[in-house]
Amino acid sequence: FLLGVDLGTSGTKTVLFDLAGNAICSKTIEYPLYQPANGWAEQDPSDWWSATCAGIKYVITTSGIDASGIAGIGLSGQMHGLVMLDRNGIVLRKSIIWCDQRTDNECQQMNKLVGERRLIEITANPALTGFTASKILWVQNNEPEIYEKCAHILLPKDYIRYMLTGEFATEMSDASGMQLMDIPKRCWSDEILSKFNIDKSLLGKIYESPEVTGKVHGKAADLTGLREGTIVVGGAADNSAAAVGTGVVRAGNAFTTIGTSGVVYAISDDVSIDIKGRVHTFCSAVPGKWTVMSCTLGAGLSLKWLRDTCCTPEMIEAEKLGVDPYVIMNTLAEQVKPGAGGLIYLPYLMGERSPHPDPYSRGVFFGLSASHTRANMIRAVMEGVAYSQLECVDVFKEMRVNVADMIACGGGGRSPLWRQMLADMYGCPVSTIKADEGPAFGVAILAGVGAGIYDSVEDACDNLVIKNSVQPPNVATGQVYGEYYQLYKKLYLDLQDSFK
Ligand code: XUL
Repeated sequence: FLLGVDLGTSGTKTVLFDLAGNAICSKTIEYPLYQPANGWAEQDPSDWWSATCAGIKYVITTSGIDASGIAGIGLSGQMHGLVMLDRNGIVLRKSIIWCDQRTDNECQQMNKLVGERRLIEITANPALTGFTASKILWVQNNEPEIYEKCAHILLPKDYIRYMLTGEFATEMSDASGMQLMDIPKRCWSDEILSKFNIDKSLLGKIYESPEVTGKVHGKAADLTGLREGTIVVGGAADNSAAAVGTGVVRAGNAFTTIGTSGVVYAISDDVSIDIKGRVHTFCSAVPGKWTVMSCTLGAGLSLKWLRDTCCTPEMIEAEKLGVDPYVIMNTLAEQVKPGAGGLIYLPYLMGERSPHPDPYSRGVFFGLSASHTRANMIRAVMEGVAYSQLECVDVFKEMRVNVADMIACGGGGRSPLWRQMLADMYGCPVSTIKADEGPAFGVAILAGVGAGIYDSVEDACDNLVIKNSVQPPNVATGQVYGEYYQLYKKLYLDLQDSFK
């Protein structure tokens, strides 16, 4: 057996797999998000640890397996969160997590200290409030007494590794999102660390994702029901783990997930950086490869917003009858032709990250007329989110990162209409996969490689990840979208200054 633990933002999902990749038992345990001020977002690492212990205990007990049958553990998790420990390994403050927005000043400080272009050349990303480096500088600037006591800086899932094994370690894919690495060289950047005044000894050793980073110690074994000595591999950041779990491990492969936010993630054999900072480049969970990734902040969120604000009475009735409101929304959208009758939606409800890092931008309906109905609005929202992702794929292409085959997952990926839109717009087939256990499956595969059960990540994925449905692109519809897409792109450029 292999165990995958995915430390998400709303909860921890623990899944036990057999060696053929079948999920045997799964448990998700939720925990709170603290928002002590507007735009702030924190979580308590002790909540993560309790949820992990309870989740592991549950799957071992419920499945009735002997814990010595678990060959390895993989950890996945939300990226960018800051965990600070003192020299005794005690947590110094709540973790400032990925969606916290308090660090605008620190981002400006980073650009001044390193220079905007140099920062992108080394860390492969522009200064972003979401990433870890600006959060570390915020603690330096605002809580110097805490920074003084800090002896270890960890990412969320790497805190779980520390609690399981006693090791201070991380791996390439997640460490990339700290903005302290030299991404082309796959190591900590001495230049960045010295300019930010961060001592390298605070950071853990960086492993490749399938490498063994430590073994479960006695105390953790007692708390989880695991066998002492079980290996824990590097694992991966949530999106990189999802890539492995959907078989996205070779150049040309990509996946898109439409959850609250929408991610497009592609693999490349060489490091490729967008010097304009429109999309992210990270080290991949596949040893020696890189990834480019985009994040549309208001993807599924846009449809949820529309459901909650404009569609409520009908949706409430439907839900009472046990019908998923999104299924009704899909049916309504299907009644409208591609192009939504000339109605165009820009999905910037929360500002935007990719391809326009712009916290001031906001959502727009353009071209609204009296003839438009709710169905047009639903279709326009779905198309607008897809255009946003297409704009990111265009940046990938400029960077010579090819997208020839796309896997769709997340809530949005369950909609055949949305998948067809993506296929028509990208001009490539969009598929789903059979076992949609996401990041937990990806890190279980990595654990299998680390345990010597599978030869390589690519090999394991070829055997374990099975496609379900494949939707080929429709060229004629793609051309219709192509015309509206030109207007979609122009709208942001025209409105950019008005948002401020
Ligand atoms: C990626 C990002 C999110 C988090 C949340 O850059 O910020 O996808 O990993 O899970």
